[in-house]
Amino acid sequence: MQADLQCILFEEATIHRRLDELAARISHDYRDSELTVIAILNGSIILVADLLRRIPLPLKLDCLSVASYHGGVRPSGELIFRQVSLPDVSGRHVLILDDILDSGSTLASIRDKIETVGPLSVRTCVLLAKKKTRIREVEPDYVGFEIADEFVVGYGLDYMERYRNLPCIGVLRKGLISPAA
Ligand code: IMP
Ligand code: MG
Repeated sequence: MQADLQCILFEEATIHRRLDELAARISHDYRDSELTVIAILNGSIILVADLLRRIPLPLKLDCLSVASYHGGVRPSGELIFRQVSLPDVSGRHVLILDDILDSGSTLASIRDKIETVGPLSVRTCVLLAKKKTRIREVEPDYVGFEIADEFVVGYGLDYMERYRNLPCIGVLRKGLISPAA
């Protein structure tokens, strides 16, 4: 699988070191609050496992499964929520966790939805944020790394559901991306 990468951006050890820093900040910021983490699946699955084990606070975990790409490399613009009901986070401090911020549509739509349930606060955390103009302006509260506007895979991130199990994060070779995507 690594042979399909044009270059590696972050080795697993580098990601883990950054997660130590993010987890320390999050643990400090929520030291007096009852936290509910909402993980956006499938992309954040590895991140949520590695990050939450570094946060020594009592917290609740909920997951939301959404799809925005429908098999390509560009967001379709329409976000499909796979579950019928939203997690009950009324009166709770919510931290939304996603793998990557690209156009901003996913995080903005989920944030809007969560706000309707009446949480005490909502913050967002992404492992990666692409430097680009966004369709929806979102400023995540916690960002692992800023990256160039390139299509990356690994550490939970996929292309056509492949590469999620790569331990590192890298740029996918352009030749492997279908021209129709
Ligand atoms: P946004 O709605 O455009 O911000 O896209 C966010 C979602 O698209 C993320 O949760 C990812 O699942 C997916 N995504 C965006 N960029 C990439 C990428 O470079 N590689 C893999 N998935 C990506
Ligand atoms: Mg995703």
